[in-house]
Amino acid sequence: MTNIKTKIGKVELTNPILVASGTFGYGEESDEFIDLNQLGGIVTKSITVHPREGNPSPRIVETPSGMLNSIGLANIGVERYISEMLPKYTDLDTAVIMNIAGSSQEEYIDVMKRVESVSNNLTGYEINISCPNVGKDGMEFGVDCDLTFQLTSELRQLTEKLLIIKLSPNVTDIAAIAQSAEAAGADAVSAINTVVGMSINPVTRKSNVYTKLCGLSGPAIKPVGVASVYQISQSISIPVIGIGGIITGEDVVEYLLAGASAVQVGTANYRHPAAGLSILDEFIDFCEKNNISDLTELIADLQDDS
Ligand SMILES: Cc1cc2nc3c(=O)[nH]c(=O)nc-3n(C[C@H](O)[C@H](O)[C@H](O)COP(=O)(O)O)c2cc1C
Repeated sequence: MTNIKTKIGKVELTNPILVASGTFGYGEESDEFIDLNQLGGIVTKSITVHPREGNPSPRIVETPSGMLNSIGLANIGVERYISEMLPKYTDLDTAVIMNIAGSSQEEYIDVMKRVESVSNNLTGYEINISCPNVGKDGMEFGVDCDLTFQLTSELRQLTEKLLIIKLSPNVTDIAAIAQSAEAAGADAVSAINTVVGMSINPVTRKSNVYTKLCGLSGPAIKPVGVASVYQISQSISIPVIGIGGIITGEDVVEYLLAGASAVQVGTANYRHPAAGLSILDEFIDFCEKNNISDLTELIADLQDDS
């Protein structure tokens, strides 16, 4: 049997398959379809200081091999997350990672401080830095090395829990942003968030999504995700969590070979909430058929031609 345990910072996950933020609610909606404890971990929907309705509809549209979304960070806000969600996680036997979003450094800090001030058994935090910063002309934190460094440093001082910075692919040099996160004390980075996309109805000449620009996810973005993980893992020494278009066990292997230590499954959960577990079964099957005794044999083991 293959050893499929993997380490992210000081945390050992029972397996490398987590579910991605925004595609699995707060974790509790799907527990009648899936044994959550069999997942390597759950990353919950982005939480902001105040509750958010999100963008007006239409905010989701299907595309060939993927989907476009512009949900606009609809969420229940940190106070309800603390009172309603955190208690539900105490019975879970899997890693629960809270995803935090904000439009200023202060907002991210506020959310984390409030969560850290109550007793909870979260495994850690994933920081969604693909959010426009109101203080810097709407520029996303995730496109700027200095903003990424400052935000990560501030959050690092607030917690000893796992701190993962989630990177946007909509940048010139994703590896440089990852280096800033590492230098500021992040335990890991995750990549990628959605790729900027757009869809127009040729007859009405209107956008198919209210906000016009939105985020592409699903199999269409897998090559972008794999390339991002490869570039990042060549430039930093903390673990990388691969995200983007994973729907099969072999997709997981591809991400590990590119340098990921674990992965997150997103859009596939919309096909079936138990997608993560069928992907896990396929991954285990692949490892056994290929005589892989330990998952670490795959990490960054990309072979050259020669
Ligand atoms: C409907 C939807 C909502 C999402 N919401 C969030 C979110 O709240 N926070 C976040 O960090 N990422 C969010 N994401 C991005 C996913 O976590 C993931 O990074 C992305 O979809 C790529 O993975 P995939 O191709 O497997 O879906 C969302 C994605 C989708 C499709």
